[in-house]
Amino acid sequence: MDKLIDLRSDTVTRPTPEMRRAMAEAEVGDDVFGDDPTVNELQEHAAALLGKEAGLFVPTGSMGNQVSLACLARPGDEVVCEAGAHFLHFEGGSAAAHLGLMVRPLPGRAGVITADQVAAALRPGSEHNPRSAVVAIENTHNSAGGRVFPIDEARAVASAARATGAAVHVDGARIFNAQVATGVPAREWAAVADTLTFCFSKGLGAPIGSMVVGDAEVIREARRIRKRLGGGMRQVGVLAAAARVALDTGVERLAEDHDNARALAEGLADIASGCVDPTEVETNMVYVDVTPFGGDAAEVSAALRRAGILTVGGPTTSMRLVTHRDVDAAEIDAVLLAFKELARA
Ligand SMILES: Cc1ncc(COP(=O)(O)O)c(C=O)c1O
Repeated sequence: MDKLIDLRSDTVTRPTPEMRRAMAEAEVGDDVFGDDPTVNELQEHAAALLGKEAGLFVPTGSMGNQVSLACLARPGDEVVCEAGAHFLHFEGGSAAAHLGLMVRPLPGRAGVITADQVAAALRPGSEHNPRSAVVAIENTHNSAGGRVFPIDEARAVASAARATGAAVHVDGARIFNAQVATGVPAREWAAVADTLTFCFSKGLGAPIGSMVVGDAEVIREARRIRKRLGGGMRQVGVLAAAARVALDTGVERLAEDHDNARALAEGLADIASGCVDPTEVETNMVYVDVTPFGGDAAEVSAALRRAGILTVGGPTTSMRLVTHRDVDAAEIDAVLLAFKELARA
Protein backbone atom coordinates (compact mmCIF):
# COMPACT_ATOMS: atom_id res chain seq x y z
CA MET A 1 0.00 0.00 0.00
CA ASP A 2 1.10 3.57 -0.67
CA LYS A 3 2.39 5.63 2.20
CA LEU A 4 -0.40 6.82 4.48
CA ILE A 5 -0.84 10.57 4.72
CA ASP A 6 -0.86 11.20 8.44
CA LEU A 7 -2.53 14.45 9.53
CA ARG A 8 -3.27 13.37 13.11
CA SER A 9 -0.51 15.44 14.67
CA ASP A 10 2.92 16.94 14.08
CA THR A 11 4.21 14.38 16.58
CA VAL A 12 4.01 11.55 14.03
CA THR A 13 7.20 12.41 12.13
CA ARG A 14 9.94 9.80 11.88
CA PRO A 15 13.51 10.77 12.76
CA THR A 16 15.52 11.83 9.71
CA PRO A 17 18.67 9.94 8.66
CA GLU A 18 20.70 12.85 10.08
CA MET A 19 18.97 12.44 13.44
CA ARG A 20 19.57 8.71 13.47
CA ARG A 21 23.23 9.25 12.66
CA ALA A 22 23.57 11.81 15.43
CA MET A 23 21.88 9.41 17.85
CA ALA A 24 24.24 6.59 16.94
CA GLU A 25 27.31 8.79 17.32
CA ALA A 26 26.26 10.77 20.41
CA GLU A 27 28.72 11.10 23.25
CA VAL A 28 26.86 10.14 26.41
CA GLY A 29 27.16 9.93 30.18
CA ASP A 30 24.84 9.56 33.15
CA ASP A 31 22.68 12.67 32.99
CA VAL A 32 21.33 12.23 36.52
CA PHE A 33 24.95 12.89 37.59
CA GLY A 34 25.04 15.76 35.07
CA ASP A 35 27.61 13.79 33.06
CA ASP A 36 26.04 13.66 29.63
CA PRO A 37 27.92 16.13 27.40
CA THR A 38 25.32 16.01 24.61
CA VAL A 39 22.51 16.85 27.02
CA ASN A 40 24.54 19.57 28.72
CA GLU A 41 25.36 21.17 25.40
CA LEU A 42 21.74 21.02 24.25
CA GLN A 43 20.54 22.61 27.49
CA GLU A 44 23.09 25.41 27.24
CA HIS A 45 22.32 25.99 23.58
CA ALA A 46 18.55 26.08 24.11
CA ALA A 47 18.85 28.43 27.07
CA ALA A 48 21.05 30.81 25.07
CA LEU A 49 18.68 30.67 22.10
CA LEU A 50 15.75 31.57 24.32
CA GLY A 51 17.70 34.20 26.26
CA LYS A 52 17.52 32.36 29.58
CA GLU A 53 20.22 31.31 32.04
CA ALA A 54 19.58 27.57 32.01
CA GLY A 55 17.65 24.73 30.46
CA LEU A 56 16.48 21.26 31.47
CA PHE A 57 15.85 18.41 29.04
CA VAL A 58 12.65 16.54 29.88
CA PRO A 59 11.00 13.60 28.12
CA THR A 60 7.72 15.33 27.21
CA GLY A 61 5.93 18.63 27.01
CA SER A 62 3.54 17.40 29.68
CA MET A 63 6.43 16.87 32.07
CA GLY A 64 7.84 20.26 31.10
CA ASN A 65 4.57 21.91 32.07
CA GLN A 66 4.41 20.01 35.36
CA VAL A 67 8.00 20.75 36.28
CA SER A 68 7.47 24.42 35.48
CA LEU A 69 4.23 24.79 37.40
CA ALA A 70 5.70 22.93 40.37
CA CYS A 71 8.62 25.39 40.44
CA LEU A 72 6.29 28.39 40.45
CA ALA A 73 3.42 27.27 42.68
CA ARG A 74 2.73 25.32 45.87
CA PRO A 75 -0.13 22.87 46.51
CA GLY A 76 -3.37 24.83 46.98
CA ASP A 77 -2.22 27.66 44.72
CA GLU A 78 -4.08 28.68 41.61
CA VAL A 79 -2.95 28.78 38.00
CA VAL A 80 -4.81 31.22 35.75
CA CYS A 81 -4.99 30.16 32.12
CA GLU A 82 -7.05 30.24 28.95
CA ALA A 83 -10.02 27.86 29.06
CA GLY A 84 -8.72 25.54 26.34
CA ALA A 85 -5.21 25.17 27.80
CA HIS A 86 -3.48 21.92 26.91
CA PHE A 87 -2.24 21.26 30.46
CA LEU A 88 -5.81 21.60 31.74
CA HIS A 89 -7.52 19.25 29.29
CA PHE A 90 -4.98 16.92 27.80
CA GLU A 91 -2.39 16.04 30.43
CA GLY A 92 -4.35 13.60 32.54
CA GLY A 93 -5.31 16.07 35.27
CA SER A 94 -1.66 16.32 36.31
CA ALA A 95 -1.93 19.82 37.80
CA ALA A 96 -4.42 18.47 40.35
CA ALA A 97 -3.19 14.90 40.72
CA HIS A 98 0.55 15.51 40.95
CA LEU A 99 0.90 19.15 41.97
CA GLY A 100 -2.20 19.87 44.07
CA LEU A 101 -2.94 22.99 42.06
CA MET A 102 -6.23 24.69 41.35
CA VAL A 103 -6.77 25.90 37.81
CA ARG A 104 -8.75 29.03 36.96
CA PRO A 105 -9.67 28.94 33.26
CA LEU A 106 -10.64 32.22 31.58
CA PRO A 107 -12.56 32.32 28.28
CA GLY A 108 -10.21 33.50 25.57
CA ARG A 109 -10.46 34.45 21.93
CA ALA A 110 -8.31 32.39 19.60
CA GLY A 111 -6.52 31.06 22.68
CA VAL A 112 -5.63 34.53 23.90
CA ILE A 113 -6.54 35.96 27.29
CA THR A 114 -6.15 39.68 27.88
CA ALA A 115 -4.33 41.63 30.56
CA ASP A 116 -7.68 43.02 31.76
CA GLN A 117 -9.09 39.53 32.20
CA VAL A 118 -5.99 38.43 34.06
CA ALA A 119 -5.94 41.52 36.30
CA ALA A 120 -9.59 40.91 37.20
CA ALA A 121 -9.02 37.21 37.91
CA LEU A 122 -5.90 37.46 40.06
CA ARG A 123 -6.74 37.42 43.74
CA PRO A 124 -5.59 40.12 46.11
CA GLY A 125 -3.88 37.84 48.64
CA SER A 126 -6.51 37.38 51.33
CA GLU A 127 -6.04 34.31 53.54
CA HIS A 128 -9.50 33.17 52.42
CA ASN A 129 -8.45 32.63 48.82
CA PRO A 130 -6.04 30.37 47.04
CA ARG A 131 -2.88 32.24 46.11
CA SER A 132 -2.87 33.24 42.45
CA ALA A 133 0.63 31.97 41.83
CA VAL A 134 0.96 31.58 38.08
CA VAL A 135 -0.50 32.84 34.84
CA ALA A 136 0.03 30.27 32.09
CA ILE A 137 -0.23 31.11 28.41
CA GLU A 138 0.02 28.75 25.45
CA ASN A 139 1.82 29.67 22.25
CA THR A 140 0.89 28.49 19.72
CA HIS A 141 -2.46 27.46 21.12
CA ASN A 142 -3.34 23.91 20.21
CA SER A 143 -7.10 23.69 20.74
CA ALA A 144 -7.62 27.20 19.35
CA GLY A 145 -6.14 26.03 16.04
CA GLY A 146 -2.43 26.72 16.29
CA ARG A 147 -3.03 30.41 16.91
CA VAL A 148 -0.21 32.71 17.97
CA PHE A 149 -0.38 34.54 21.30
CA PRO A 150 0.58 38.06 20.09
CA ILE A 151 3.75 39.30 21.75
CA ASP A 152 2.27 42.63 22.83
CA GLU A 153 -0.61 40.89 24.55
CA ALA A 154 1.83 38.46 26.18
CA ARG A 155 3.83 41.39 27.55
CA ALA A 156 0.66 43.03 28.87
CA VAL A 157 -0.54 39.78 30.48
CA ALA A 158 2.86 39.31 32.10
CA SER A 159 2.83 42.82 33.58
CA ALA A 160 -0.66 42.22 34.95
CA ALA A 161 0.58 38.97 36.51
CA ARG A 162 3.65 40.57 38.04
CA ALA A 163 1.62 43.47 39.43
CA THR A 164 0.09 41.01 41.92
CA GLY A 165 3.20 38.89 42.37
CA ALA A 166 2.16 36.02 40.09
CA ALA A 167 4.73 34.27 37.93
CA VAL A 168 4.35 33.51 34.21
CA HIS A 169 4.68 30.16 32.48
CA VAL A 170 4.63 29.85 28.71
CA ASP A 171 3.61 26.49 27.30
CA GLY A 172 5.57 27.00 24.12
CA ALA A 173 5.30 23.44 22.85
CA ARG A 174 5.20 25.04 19.37
CA ILE A 175 6.96 28.34 20.13
CA PHE A 176 9.04 28.10 16.96
CA ASN A 177 5.87 27.90 14.87
CA ALA A 178 4.94 31.24 16.44
CA GLN A 179 8.40 32.60 15.63
CA VAL A 180 8.22 31.53 12.01
CA ALA A 181 4.64 32.74 11.55
CA THR A 182 5.32 36.22 12.94
CA GLY A 183 9.03 36.88 12.58
CA VAL A 184 9.12 37.61 16.32
CA PRO A 185 12.00 35.63 17.87
CA ALA A 186 10.91 32.96 20.35
CA ARG A 187 13.15 34.60 22.94
CA GLU A 188 10.71 37.56 23.08
CA TRP A 189 8.03 35.29 24.54
CA ALA A 190 10.62 33.71 26.81
CA ALA A 191 11.50 37.19 28.05
CA VAL A 192 8.04 37.60 29.59
CA ALA A 193 8.18 34.16 31.21
CA ASP A 194 9.67 32.73 34.40
CA THR A 195 9.55 29.33 32.74
CA LEU A 196 9.00 28.34 29.12
CA THR A 197 8.63 24.80 27.81
CA PHE A 198 9.10 23.90 24.17
CA CYS A 199 9.03 20.57 22.35
CA PHE A 200 11.54 19.05 19.97
CA SER A 201 9.09 16.24 19.18
CA LYS A 202 6.41 18.28 17.41
CA GLY A 203 7.00 20.35 14.28
CA LEU A 204 10.78 20.27 14.75
CA GLY A 205 10.62 16.54 14.08
CA ALA A 206 12.64 14.87 16.86
CA PRO A 207 11.39 11.52 18.14
CA ILE A 208 11.35 12.52 21.82
CA GLY A 209 12.08 15.44 24.06
CA SER A 210 11.19 18.86 25.40
CA MET A 211 13.08 21.65 27.14
CA VAL A 212 12.28 23.87 30.09
CA VAL A 213 14.17 27.17 30.23
CA GLY A 214 14.35 29.72 33.03
CA ASP A 215 16.81 31.35 35.37
CA ALA A 216 19.48 29.20 37.00
CA GLU A 217 17.73 28.97 40.36
CA VAL A 218 14.41 27.86 38.83
CA ILE A 219 16.15 25.23 36.73
CA ARG A 220 18.00 23.88 39.79
CA GLU A 221 14.62 23.34 41.42
CA ALA A 222 13.25 21.97 38.14
CA ARG A 223 15.92 19.23 38.19
CA ARG A 224 14.74 18.09 41.62
CA ILE A 225 11.12 18.05 40.51
CA ARG A 226 11.93 16.21 37.29
CA LYS A 227 13.57 13.50 39.43
CA ARG A 228 10.51 13.38 41.68
CA LEU A 229 8.29 12.83 38.66
CA GLY A 230 10.50 10.01 37.44
CA GLY A 231 12.02 11.99 34.60
CA GLY A 232 15.69 11.71 35.57
CA MET A 233 17.18 9.89 32.59
CA ARG A 234 20.62 8.33 32.23
CA GLN A 235 22.56 8.12 28.91
CA VAL A 236 19.96 10.34 27.32
CA GLY A 237 22.41 12.07 25.01
CA VAL A 238 21.12 9.67 22.34
CA LEU A 239 17.85 11.59 22.46
CA ALA A 240 19.42 15.00 22.97
CA ALA A 241 21.48 14.45 19.83
CA ALA A 242 18.33 14.00 17.74
CA ALA A 243 16.76 16.98 19.46
CA ARG A 244 19.76 19.12 18.55
CA VAL A 245 19.45 18.15 14.88
CA ALA A 246 15.73 18.97 15.07
CA LEU A 247 16.47 22.41 16.48
CA ASP A 248 19.21 23.12 13.95
CA THR A 249 17.31 21.89 10.89
CA GLY A 250 13.66 22.11 11.85
CA VAL A 251 12.87 25.73 12.57
CA GLU A 252 13.02 27.53 9.23
CA ARG A 253 11.29 24.75 7.38
CA LEU A 254 8.19 25.17 9.58
CA ALA A 255 7.21 27.80 6.98
CA GLU A 256 6.49 24.93 4.58
CA ASP A 257 4.10 23.36 7.10
CA HIS A 258 2.35 26.71 7.48
CA ASP A 259 2.06 27.09 3.68
CA ASN A 260 0.66 23.56 3.43
CA ALA A 261 -1.87 24.23 6.19
CA ARG A 262 -2.98 27.44 4.51
CA ALA A 263 -3.32 25.66 1.14
CA LEU A 264 -5.31 22.91 2.83
CA ALA A 265 -7.64 25.44 4.48
CA GLU A 266 -8.12 27.42 1.27
CA GLY A 267 -8.81 24.25 -0.70
CA LEU A 268 -11.34 23.03 1.86
CA ALA A 269 -13.08 26.42 1.91
CA ASP A 270 -13.32 26.24 -1.89
CA ILE A 271 -14.91 22.79 -1.70
CA ALA A 272 -17.38 23.67 1.08
CA SER A 273 -17.69 27.34 1.81
CA GLY A 274 -17.66 28.14 5.52
CA CYS A 275 -16.21 24.82 6.72
CA VAL A 276 -13.02 26.64 7.71
CA ASP A 277 -11.85 30.25 7.71
CA PRO A 278 -8.40 30.22 6.07
CA THR A 279 -7.57 33.63 7.54
CA GLU A 280 -7.55 31.97 10.97
CA VAL A 281 -4.89 29.48 9.92
CA GLU A 282 -1.66 31.06 11.18
CA THR A 283 0.58 28.01 11.62
CA ASN A 284 0.32 24.26 11.01
CA MET A 285 -3.20 23.40 12.18
CA VAL A 286 -6.54 23.45 10.41
CA TYR A 287 -9.75 22.88 12.31
CA VAL A 288 -12.48 22.00 9.85
CA ASP A 289 -16.22 21.57 10.32
CA VAL A 290 -16.72 18.25 8.56
CA THR A 291 -20.54 18.39 8.32
CA PRO A 292 -20.46 19.02 4.51
CA PHE A 293 -18.24 15.94 4.09
CA GLY A 294 -20.78 13.40 5.24
CA GLY A 295 -21.25 13.22 8.98
CA ASP A 296 -19.42 13.64 12.23
CA ALA A 297 -15.64 13.57 12.58
CA ALA A 298 -15.58 9.83 13.37
CA GLU A 299 -17.45 9.00 10.16
CA VAL A 300 -15.40 11.34 8.00
CA SER A 301 -12.22 10.04 9.61
CA ALA A 302 -13.20 6.46 8.73
CA ALA A 303 -13.91 7.47 5.13
CA LEU A 304 -10.57 9.28 4.86
CA ARG A 305 -8.80 6.23 6.29
CA ARG A 306 -10.15 4.21 3.38
CA ALA A 307 -8.49 6.77 1.08
CA GLY A 308 -5.16 6.34 2.91
CA ILE A 309 -5.43 9.46 5.06
CA LEU A 310 -5.10 9.31 8.85
CA THR A 311 -7.01 11.81 10.97
CA VAL A 312 -8.35 11.83 14.52
CA GLY A 313 -12.07 11.17 14.51
CA GLY A 314 -13.63 12.86 17.51
CA PRO A 315 -17.22 12.70 18.66
CA THR A 316 -18.06 16.14 17.25
CA THR A 317 -18.14 17.64 13.78
CA SER A 318 -14.84 19.47 14.24
CA MET A 319 -11.69 17.78 12.95
CA ARG A 320 -8.09 18.93 13.50
CA LEU A 321 -5.68 18.44 10.62
CA VAL A 322 -1.99 19.04 11.31
CA THR A 323 0.79 19.56 8.77
CA HIS A 324 4.41 18.59 9.43
CA ARG A 325 7.71 17.62 7.87
CA ASP A 326 6.44 14.23 6.62
CA VAL A 327 3.57 15.72 4.55
CA ASP A 328 4.32 17.59 1.33
CA ALA A 329 2.33 19.85 -0.99
CA ALA A 330 1.44 17.01 -3.38
CA GLU A 331 -0.03 15.06 -0.46
CA ILE A 332 -2.08 18.08 0.53
CA ASP A 333 -3.52 18.03 -3.01
CA ALA A 334 -4.36 14.34 -2.54
CA VAL A 335 -6.11 15.14 0.75
CA LEU A 336 -8.15 17.86 -0.96
CA LEU A 337 -9.15 15.41 -3.67
CA ALA A 338 -10.37 12.96 -1.04
CA PHE A 339 -12.42 15.68 0.70
CA LYS A 340 -13.85 16.71 -2.68
CA GLU A 341 -15.02 13.14 -3.30
CA LEU A 342 -16.60 12.99 0.16
CA ALA A 343 -18.46 16.25 -0.47
CA ARG A 344 -19.75 14.86 -3.76
CA ALA A 345 -20.88 11.52 -2.30
C1 LIG B 1 0.36 23.04 23.57
C2 LIG B 1 0.86 21.71 24.06
N1 LIG B 1 1.48 21.65 25.24
C3 LIG B 1 1.96 20.50 25.72
C4 LIG B 1 1.82 19.33 25.02
C5 LIG B 1 2.31 18.06 25.63
O1 LIG B 1 3.38 17.51 24.96
P1 LIG B 1 3.71 15.93 25.13
O2 LIG B 1 2.79 15.21 24.23
O3 LIG B 1 5.14 15.86 24.70
O4 LIG B 1 3.52 15.60 26.56
C6 LIG B 1 1.18 19.35 23.77
C7 LIG B 1 1.02 18.10 23.01
O5 LIG B 1 0.44 18.06 21.96
C8 LIG B 1 0.68 20.58 23.29
O6 LIG B 1 0.03 20.64 22.13
